[in-house]
Amino acid sequence: MSGARAADLDTINRNTWKLPGTVRVYEHLQGWTDPGEHAALEHVADEARGAPILDIGVGAGRTIPLLRAMSPDYVGIDYTAEMVTACRARHPDARIEHMDARDLGRFRDGQFGLAVFSFNGIDAVHVDDRQQVLREVHRVLRSGGIFVVSAHNRHGPGHGERPQLHLDFTWNPLKLGWRALKLARSLPRSVRNARRLRALNETHDDWSIMNCGAHDFGIVVVYTTLAEQKRQLSAAGFEVEIVFDNVAGRPVADDADTSDIWWFHYIARKP
Ligand SMILES: C[S@@+](CC[C@H](N)C(=O)[O-])C[C@H]1O[C@@H](n2cnc3c(N)ncnc32)[C@H](O)[C@@H]1O
Repeated sequence: MSGARAADLDTINRNTWKLPGTVRVYEHLQGWTDPGEHAALEHVADEARGAPILDIGVGAGRTIPLLRAMSPDYVGIDYTAEMVTACRARHPDARIEHMDARDLGRFRDGQFGLAVFSFNGIDAVHVDDRQQVLREVHRVLRSGGIFVVSAHNRHGPGHGERPQLHLDFTWNPLKLGWRALKLARSLPRSVRNARRLRALNETHDDWSIMNCGAHDFGIVVVYTTLAEQKRQLSAAGFEVEIVFDNVAGRPVADDADTSDIWWFHYIARKP
């Protein structure tokens, strides 16, 4: 067990995901999050064509068009009721369930050909429960099925980030004013959140639990090294085929310097 309990992370993170402002952010997202996600989904697209797809942590539905372009046989799940409501409103023709990835009991063994947990959603789950998520995904995938999952890098630039008084300069006075206004509103909230949540920070060589800059430092997430995340996937019964970095969408070698990679996209297969 670590200092923070699984229930602490669930409460903190869900309280932030469910805020109207957070839901709105996700409602406006479109397309791939980064070149690594593009590379990862391209990598699996041919194999996933027509297969049953499980989209875990679907949020407000950014990934729905990307995944349904591969197959109409699609179900999305999320453990935040407010995200489920927003997602259903945006995609009334998609099957969206309110469900926690730790318990996929409503699905049969071997039901899916592809499972995706995108945008580092798995990192909101405490280390104590992470293996349970991986085991459940493994169970509901058919033999030969693929799991695409992204996860924050323990050695990446985002690890240990702190609120900063930083304004992206532009010569456009309107844009500059708007950015200054946004910063003036978000910085005090970020500082308050970072102070409130810093007691949960916990650092180890292979993984850590850290307050993360997303949503004005409103979430606490798990960071893993490349080797540790591969180890966890193997322990759950997966074979990791390839890993892409988020920055350029290139394959990452086991011995690569990963200090400029914020998160990884893992492609893991159930043998
Ligand atoms: C970073 S957001 C990504 C949303 C969406 N996949 C996207 O890329 O726009 C993570 C989402 O995962 C969901 N989530 C986190 N842990 C989860 C769990 N254990 N079970 C189901 N959903 C979870 C959150 O509610 C949130 O909507």
